[in-house]
Amino acid sequence: MSSICRPFTVQGKPFFPLGGQSRNSSGYNRAEAETAFKALKLLHGNTLEIPVYWEQVEPEEGTFDWASVDTLLAMARENDVHLVLLWFGTWKNGCMEYAPAWVKRDPERFWRVINPYGNRVWVLSSHCEATRQADEKAFCALLAHLKEQDAQQQTVIAVQIENEPGILGSDRDYGEAAEAMFQSPVPEGVLGLLQGLSSGGIWEAWQEAGGRQAGNWPEVLGARAGELMTAYSIARYIDSLAEAGRAVYDLPLYVNVWLGEAGWRAPGGTYPSGGAVSFALDLWKWATPHIDLIAPDIYIADADGYRAICEAYARPDNPLFVPESAPGSSNAWHMFHAIANTSAIGYHFFAIEHLVGPDGGVNPPAADIVGSFHAVASAIPLLLRYQGTDRIHAVMQLEGQGDQYLDLDGWTGVVRFGYGGVSYAGMDWRHTAADRALFQAPKAPRGRGLIFQESEDTFYLVGAAYRLGLRRKGPASQTMDPTQGDFLRERQAPFISIDEGHFEGDTFVVDRRRNGDERDNGIWVEPDVQVVRVIFAK
Ligand code: DGJ
Repeated sequence: MSSICRPFTVQGKPFFPLGGQSRNSSGYNRAEAETAFKALKLLHGNTLEIPVYWEQVEPEEGTFDWASVDTLLAMARENDVHLVLLWFGTWKNGCMEYAPAWVKRDPERFWRVINPYGNRVWVLSSHCEATRQADEKAFCALLAHLKEQDAQQQTVIAVQIENEPGILGSDRDYGEAAEAMFQSPVPEGVLGLLQGLSSGGIWEAWQEAGGRQAGNWPEVLGARAGELMTAYSIARYIDSLAEAGRAVYDLPLYVNVWLGEAGWRAPGGTYPSGGAVSFALDLWKWATPHIDLIAPDIYIADADGYRAICEAYARPDNPLFVPESAPGSSNAWHMFHAIANTSAIGYHFFAIEHLVGPDGGVNPPAADIVGSFHAVASAIPLLLRYQGTDRIHAVMQLEGQGDQYLDLDGWTGVVRFGYGGVSYAGMDWRHTAADRALFQAPKAPRGRGLIFQESEDTFYLVGAAYRLGLRRKGPASQTMDPTQGDFLRERQAPFISIDEGHFEGDTFVVDRRRNGDERDNGIWVEPDVQVVRVIFAK
């Protein structure tokens, strides 16, 4: 059974959030939010991530207006979905767009980051106590309001605290307070953290700087000192908000990350310096004990780059949660890696509104991503049961890949991609006649999905555009009968049943049996079929 730590729950039960994030301006009012909720339905998602803006809820200092939050709560309940609220406060993408006007107008009180040339940058300084207190007050007021309005119903399952924090436009703050910190001894706690590590980005930076046991930031951390001091300062700032907020209403909290793994990889240049990039993750985890998750926004399209990020953020102390990913189609494949191989405990993609087409249905280019989300949605009870065990397998057809080999418990499996030759026989009338010419092999998108092995003889499949063949492992005398070619082996595989169905709670409910021609071409599944269960005889 699953050993994964899941901060997300609803009424005490583990919950797997699946859906999308709205565009930045969709949280202001009902008219703006409507398309996002519509899109979530089309996606078969259960959770919408949508912003709450500091500038909107505290237009005058100390005066709060919760109308927008109440509208989002009402809309989520009307649509029977959950919310993750995104607190756009001090930081938004390494800048400060969503700070209220009274903060923006008063840089003497609410300091800005100063760049190495002595100029103000459009980023609030994490070294300014007045800003921290003002943000904390507003953040706690939000949590108090949610407690009052939602503690019973639990529509809101988590809050993202800030958005992609960090500094764009400077590697660190060169203002007076920041400069004083830079020249001061590195805190004992950070030195203890470094001494306890034996690998990783911050440990390497420390080693490169000579592995000193004490000293100021540049002495201890050398060339990366500016970025790491900023990470320390921002992480402690955000953690203090989290600590105060949780004392008001104890909701799961996470921080999202603008990743460093792109372009020049220059802190403050190509990504916000001081964010929880993989290089600084050890420091961020240590500095944020009141935050459940550090969550990467994965916009990387190539499989290797995508997988490296999953592997960096999926740690025993940090289950992988993907709050944002690319709306592009590569994600329709990669997400299965995140979910099956690195046990992502929730998954969303950005700009969900775009999947609604002009006629109100699915925008045709979004069909693949919608199909993939539908497949995952159908499998949520299985994910809650089997993530973190060896019973779940990702199916992913990379460019040019013809099949995929699976080493299963007692079985070998071969996933063949595409729909095979004689489509009318190998599938059913629902999946061969409508949009695919009969007698003509349909053009398949790249295959993807999940395969669960529940027990030695029972499998569940979700996904699209693949066909699974299974063969029992065993001595050659049993498995290599030369009179039995692939054709017979498939037809005479000892199936008890192949059933299409869906889950109601934890129970699999059969919708349709298919024990005839429909199995001759391998065991197949499509998103609208939902789940296929296969049971073998001995
Ligand atoms: C990541 C941010 O978190 C989002 O708010 C949005 O700005 C996207 N980038 C745009 O790609």
